[in-house]
Order: sequence, then structure tokens, then C-alpha cells
Amino acid sequence: MTKQVALITGAYKGIGLEIGRQLGRLGFIVLLGARNKNKSETAALLLQEENIEAHGVELDVTNSVHIEAVAKRIEAEYGKLDVLVNNAGVYTDHLENYLDAIRASFEVNLFGPQALTEALLPWIKASPAGRIVNQSSILGSLGTLLSNPMYGERSAPAYTTSKAAMNAWTVQLSISLRDTMIKVNACHPGWVKTDMGGSSAPMEISEGAESAVWLATLPPDGPTGGFFHKRDQLPW
Ligand SMILES: NC(=O)c1ccc[n+]([C@@H]2O[C@H](COP(=O)([O-])OP(=O)(O)OC[C@H]3O[C@@H](n4cnc5c(N)ncnc54)[C@H](OP(=O)(O)O)[C@@H]3O)[C@@H](O)[C@H]2O)c1
Repeated sequence: MTKQVALITGAYKGIGLEIGRQLGRLGFIVLLGARNKNKSETAALLLQEENIEAHGVELDVTNSVHIEAVAKRIEAEYGKLDVLVNNAGVYTDHLENYLDAIRASFEVNLFGPQALTEALLPWIKASPAGRIVNQSSILGSLGTLLSNPMYGERSAPAYTTSKAAMNAWTVQLSISLRDTMIKVNACHPGWVKTDMGGSSAPMEISEGAESAVWLATLPPDGPTGGFFHKRDQLPW
């Protein structure tokens, strides 16, 4: 298997689908994760029509059966995974119950990516240059939270804490993998026009995918254990 293989979660639409498109154009086989089979196959068909080798993968990141099945499929079909982009994410701060919002956010934004990464690590280790990219947010940056103008009028305890936790986990994982070839980084895509970002966002989806695609394709001397927007390092 000489072709590189990438799995992107939450890839039915938005930034995740675009990361699949951009990695596909670079020659990767892209596995597009979506919460149900139909959605994943619809996304794959769209990219296949653009001459990209894309395959749908049923993958709700909170579903352990899905995670186990994906790991088995990657083992059987490719024997390695070069890139994992933990892109799936939710913003649950609109939920009425404060604790429900926090729990739901952590399930998708932290525990799901952790379980998936754990299950896939043997196959990422089998790659000569494994890359793990965690799609975080500047709203998870403790260093900028107090001065972030978006939070002058409202707060988002579920989203911000789950992304801050994802950032801490990124560092932790990079430390535990420092004796391997694997690089682990987090990124902020920018404020992007998607269902989550809304129509007032200034960035187009194609630009929003750039940070993750850069981290997914880092050369051997690239960084690990960092937090980036485009190629600029962000404060934790
Ligand atoms: N847009 C922005 O301005 C912005 C800024 C900072 C960070 N981000 C981050 O960027 C990532 C992508 O967001 P986006 O803007 O592209 O939003 P989006 O269009 O709402 O896409 C989010 C994707 O995540 C999927 N998803 C949700 N829960 C899932 C689960 N349990 N398992 C698997 N997939 C799940 C959704 O699936 P369904 O289609 O089934 O709902 C959807 O495909 C997120 O992690 C988000 O936090 C976005």
C-alpha cells in the first residue's frame, strides 16, 4: 500500500468534507466519516465525481461499535492509517440544561476523538509518517479567552471547556508519542461559513480547511504538540 490514507471525522459537510477534498486532490485515499452510512456515502460520491478516491465510513464518534468497525476495516483494507483528522464537533451551549450541554459537548469534542484515536493508534503507528490533527477552536485557548471579543456578551462554557480539554489532550498525546514518527497537533480553522460558523463568518470553507490540511501533510521536521491557525502558532 503506497498511497496515503486519511480518515476525517464529521466529513459529510462543512470543513470536514473540504479537508477530504483537499487531501484527495493531493493524492490521498480519503475515508469520510459521517454519523450514518447514507451520509458518508453521499459525501464519498460527491468527491468521487471530482476524481478523488473517497470512501464513506459510518462513524458516529460517540459510538464504540462504529469505532471498532472502522479500526477493523482500516486493518483489513489498508494495514495502516497515515492521517487522522478529528474534525467532528458540536456546539451545544444553546441547550437549556447547563450540565447536559457540557456533557454532550465533551462526548463529541473530546471523549469520541480520544476513543477513536486510541483504537486507531496501532494503524497510525504502522504508517511511516502518521499525523493526528485535532480540530479545535480559538475559543479553547485559555490565553485569549478573556480578551476574545466574541465573548463580551455571552459565554459558551460547554464549547470552550471541551476545546480547551482537546488542546490539553493534544499536548498529552504528543508527549506520549514523542519516540515515534507520529506528529500530533491542534488547529483553529478560523471563523468559517458553515452550519456551525453561520453565514456572517468571514472565511470561506476552502480557506477554513487549510490549517488542518497543512498539519496533516507536515514534513518530518514539522512541529508536534502545537496549536496553529494556518501556519501561525496560537497561545494555549
Ligand atoms: N465554523 C467555524 O467557524 C469553526 C470555528 C472553530 C472551530 N470549528 C470546528 O471545526 C469543526 C468542523 O465544524 P464545521 O464548522 O464544519 O461545522 P458543521 O458544518 O456543523 O460540521 C460538523 C460536523 O460534525 C459532525 N458531527 C457532529 N456530531 C458528530 C458525532 N457524534 N460523530 C460524528 N460526526 C459528528 C456533523 O455531522 P452531521 O452532519 O451528522 O450533523 C457535521 O458533519 C468542528 O470541530 C468545530 O468545532 C469550526
